[in-house]
Amino acid sequence: MATIRIPEQGRTLGDPESVTEHLAALGIDYERWEPAHPVAPDAPADEILAAYREEIDRLKARGGYVTADVIDVKPQTPGLEAMLAKFSREHWHDDDEVRFIIHGRGVFHIHPPQGPVIALEVQAGDLIRVPRGTWHWFDLCAEREIRAIRLFQDPSGWAPRYTDSGVDKGFEPVCLGPSYLPR
Ligand SMILES: [Fe+2]
Repeated sequence: MATIRIPEQGRTLGDPESVTEHLAALGIDYERWEPAHPVAPDAPADEILAAYREEIDRLKARGGYVTADVIDVKPQTPGLEAMLAKFSREHWHDDDEVRFIIHGRGVFHIHPPQGPVIALEVQAGDLIRVPRGTWHWFDLCAEREIRAIRLFQDPSGWAPRYTDSGVDKGFEPVCLGPSYLPR
């Protein structure tokens, strides 16, 4: 289950209704895909995609997504630091950012046009859709591991466009677990 922290207000939202409602008000779709399918989190990508075919097809029909893949990030992933650095600065995309988390954890900071920045921590079973144009940034939690299904309207639109607002520098990528990944 995802959690939301609102650092400026010192608030944390952890119950499904408040999380879904708060995200909906920011235009972000959130779902729990439960019960999860009986597929191992470390199964090959094609098995994961096959297990979740029904949900993926439903999202494709709803959002005009044409392709789906599985992204796999581990501490030993070559070029991990460079990859993380690319997404830990405030940016937006010309495509929606759709992620279903299979394994691991991460934290999206969302910077809405009005209202405070939120830190949305996601874990296995969470589906989020961050609409195109939304200002956000992403960090892994301390385990530095995440596996997720991604959906794309146009894979060529998948490039971060940086805001260079500097707002991201005011927030630590704190996960609610026992430790966090310091920058
Ligand atoms: Fe992004």
